[in-house]
Amino acid sequence: MQPARRSVLIGAATAVAVPWLIGRAWAADAGTPLPIPDAIQVGASGAHVLQAVEGTRAFFAGGAPSPVKGFGQAYLGPVLRVRRGTTARIDVLNRLSEPITTHWHGLHVPGEVDGGPHAEIRPGARWSPSLEVNQSAATLWYHSHQHGATAPHVYAGLAGMLIVDDSDAPPSGLPANYGIDDLPIIIQDRAFARDGRLVYNAMGPAMMAGFRGDHILVNGAVRPLATPPAGIVRLRILNASNARIYHLRFEDGRAMHLVGSDGGLLRRPVPMRRLTLATGERAEVLVDFGSGGSARLLSEPDRNSPMGGVMGGPGGMARGMAAEPEPVADGGAFEVMRFKVDTSRTAGVRALPEAIADAAPAPALGEPVRRRRFVLDTHGAMMGGGRGQGGMGMGMTINGRSFDMSRIDLRARRGETELWQVRAGDMAHPFHVHGTSFQVVSRNGVAVDFATTGWKDTVLVDGVVELLMRFERQAGEQAPYMYHCHILEHEDAGMMGQFTVG
Ligand code: C2O
Ligand code: CU
Ligand code: CU
Repeated sequence: MQPARRSVLIGAATAVAVPWLIGRAWAADAGTPLPIPDAIQVGASGAHVLQAVEGTRAFFAGGAPSPVKGFGQAYLGPVLRVRRGTTARIDVLNRLSEPITTHWHGLHVPGEVDGGPHAEIRPGARWSPSLEVNQSAATLWYHSHQHGATAPHVYAGLAGMLIVDDSDAPPSGLPANYGIDDLPIIIQDRAFARDGRLVYNAMGPAMMAGFRGDHILVNGAVRPLATPPAGIVRLRILNASNARIYHLRFEDGRAMHLVGSDGGLLRRPVPMRRLTLATGERAEVLVDFGSGGSARLLSEPDRNSPMGGVMGGPGGMARGMAAEPEPVADGGAFEVMRFKVDTSRTAGVRALPEAIADAAPAPALGEPVRRRRFVLDTHGAMMGGGRGQGGMGMGMTINGRSFDMSRIDLRARRGETELWQVRAGDMAHPFHVHGTSFQVVSRNGVAVDFATTGWKDTVLVDGVVELLMRFERQAGEQAPYMYHCHILEHEDAGMMGQFTVG
């Protein structure tokens, strides 16, 4: 593909300040090998040191270096692997000039080591949580959760994948050769100025809908190329974007077989042609590359917006903001990454498994003892209201209230099953709950089959969903759990609440 340089020239300084003037100057820079993050086994024998650092990174050959952040490296961090039944000790060292937190998204740990907004790590300080791992094998992640700065932190690179392994469970029969046929796929969209520098400026409409970039990165590389063996390949897909919802499909129509979701593996593979993944969600899929050749993973555009037709429609504001990547197919589908089978490699798994031995347990939560309702809303922000701060961005709400670190919104009890009804009317919001995994019981009044979703901790709410959950770990007033929209601009603007588990 040729670089689609815009004819209207804009200066770098302008581009940095005005995201909707960014040109697609770097469209040709795809196809570098898929970076595979180091996988680090974290056990009880000595703490693993995870340093939050500043650095620079040129995302394009010949492009200007961008200031970025990361865990132990410039942009993103290692894949941390923890084992069920062990205690993982991690020393997070903050070498940045601003406070961060480090949250273990999807890990069922007590509030005091959950790494939410109350677990602030000041510049130069160290935070040393001990994480008792007691849950099924799953693909989780970690990221900064600093209140008001989660969006810029994750955007700059403060995120990584976290994998729970369960050595007591029977072997799953799934591909498990990390980096060969078991690939971490961390998808993020980013915007760049003409000189190749990373740009982030979530103001006005970009804040209302959530900030979206028109370049797709996988594991930090622009639309990279993976070279799997000719066989069954497992993709652990994490949507670590700030706001973008992906509707993934292979260009040649080949199936993806869903074998795992947020909280663990499914009983049997669920074939699908199109996989929707909102921010914060994970999906483990098997793809058959047995016939060799090449394949391209695409996504349909994200039309999610509180201004519906105005922003989402063709020629609307979103277009002018260069919010959508360059289309490669009808309907605006764009490329996420490519695969080219390497026949010199040997596949460990050649046939799709019928059943997955290592599957997470089926839900047995019983009848809820309590029902709660949540309404997610962007209107306060749209009207410029909220918390007396004025301007957009301070008035995103859940049940009419913006997040307040000093207010406990609800109190739950250990071992009690609750039913949460979550509603989103203005646009779709990915709703995330800390401290546990939940069962999606229904979506817009229609029962959801657990076999197709598995355990979740983040769910896209478009209308109304009902979630059944139980908390087994404790979270006190000093370190409560969070529930929030995982569009990070919405979260930072107040679409978050906190709760204790006593
Ligand atoms: Cu992925 Cu409350 O976070
Ligand atoms: Cu979380
Ligand atoms: Cu939202």
